[in-house]
Amino acid sequence: MSDIFLEIDGKEVKATEGMTVLAAAQSAGIPIPTLCYHEKLEPFGGCRLCIVEAEARGWTKLVVSCVYPVEEKLIVRTRSEKIDRIRKTILELLLAHAPDSPALHDLAQVYGADKNRFEKEASFCIHCGLCVRYCAEVKKKNAVGFVDRGIRKEISFIPEIASKECNDCKECFPLCPTSYLQAAFVLTEALVFPSSSE
Ligand code: SF4
Ligand code: FES
Repeated sequence: MSDIFLEIDGKEVKATEGMTVLAAAQSAGIPIPTLCYHEKLEPFGGCRLCIVEAEARGWTKLVVSCVYPVEEKLIVRTRSEKIDRIRKTILELLLAHAPDSPALHDLAQVYGADKNRFEKEASFCIHCGLCVRYCAEVKKKNAVGFVDRGIRKEISFIPEIASKECNDCKECFPLCPTSYLQAAFVLTEALVFPSSSE
C-alpha cells in the first residue's frame, strides 16, 4: 500500500491508502472526539461527532472522519468555530436522551454543551450501535439488536441467545457510553431468564 501525506491541524501526517482521516489523526496523536467508533468494528459513521473540515483542490467541506478516506495533500482541521458549534448541538441532542452519561458530560464540558437545551427524551440509549455491532462483528453472537425504527428505535437482548451467551461475556457493557446497555440486560435477565443468574 502506498504512503499518503496529508496535513492535520498544521502537522504533516503520513498515512497509508485506505486509512480513514480519524485513524490517521489518531496515529499522529491528534484527538478527534468519537462516540460510535471502535477499532475492532467496521466504520459506522452514526454519531457524527467526529466531523472535521477537509480541504482539497481549494474546496472545503465537512466530512465524517471515521469513514472518510485519506487522500494526498488533504488539509484537515479538527477544530473550528463551525465544527465546535455542530459538536455542541449533537451533544445537546444526545444529552436529552442520556443526561447523566459521564462520557457525554466530559465532552459537554469541552464544547460548552448545555444538557438542558432540549426537552428530555426518556430513552437513555443514544443509538451508537456499539453493543449491537460488537456482538455481531466481534463475538458473532447477535445477542442484542435494534428493534423498531426512527424515534422508537431501541436495543433489545434476544432472550434465547442472551440467556446462553451473555453471562460469560458482557464485553459490550463497558463500550456503552450511557450505561443503558447494562440496565437493559439486567432487566431482560430479571424478566426473561431469571434462573440463569442464580
Ligand atoms: S445501549 Fe449503549 S452501546 Fe448500545 S446502542 Fe445504546 S448507547 Fe450504544
Ligand atoms: S465516531 Fe464517527 S460518526 Fe461516530
